[in-house]
Amino acid sequence: MSIRPIEPDDHAALLALWRRTPGLRLRPEDEFVPFCAYLQRTPGLSLLCERQGRLLGCVLVGHDGRRGYLQHLVVDQPYRAQGVARALLRRALEQLAGLGVQKSHVFVLRDTPESLAFWSAQAAWEARGDIQVYSHSEESP
Ligand SMILES: CC(C)(COP(=O)(O)OP(=O)(O)OC[C@H]1O[C@@H](n2cnc3c(N)ncnc32)[C@H](O)[C@@H]1OP(=O)(O)O)[C@@H](O)C(=O)NCCC(=O)NCCS
Repeated sequence: MSIRPIEPDDHAALLALWRRTPGLRLRPEDEFVPFCAYLQRTPGLSLLCERQGRLLGCVLVGHDGRRGYLQHLVVDQPYRAQGVARALLRRALEQLAGLGVQKSHVFVLRDTPESLAFWSAQAAWEARGDIQVYSHSEESP
């Protein structure tokens, strides 16, 4: 099992993984062009895990120079409960810390029980009850 940075060429395999993952909401930003632009903003930070060329899981990692933001932490169904997500998360946080980003956030949809179970089990992560997230979209009325 090895972890390496996501490259543009990985897009098709990642998109297929995201599409077969119940609960994951695909967005226009998951299409090839914005996906590549995202990777370019924070080169080398987004990670995938593979074994013998087979994609096991991934995490998209970005930051704004102050806080880290994780998205699409996904492990393909047959490879769950083997520590893949834990390993991806550890590497992602090490890389962010190396850039001076000491604090990170993840937004977890309430209707993704496995995701919630994973994040609740991470002792170093605090579920925030003191923050309400507001989102703006150019498509908003
Ligand atoms: C959440 C997810 C990434 C976890 O991946 P994983 O590789 O199976 O997780 P790990 O094996 O690294 O688990 C690490 C720890 O998290 C906890 N954990 C993980 N999955 C869990 C589950 N389903 N229930 C309870 N605890 C869980 C355990 O404590 C585990 O430690 P242990 O192995 O010592 O028991 C995977 O289940 C997944 O991809 N789910 C769908 C993701 C999703 O819905 N995304 C949409 C929101 S963006």
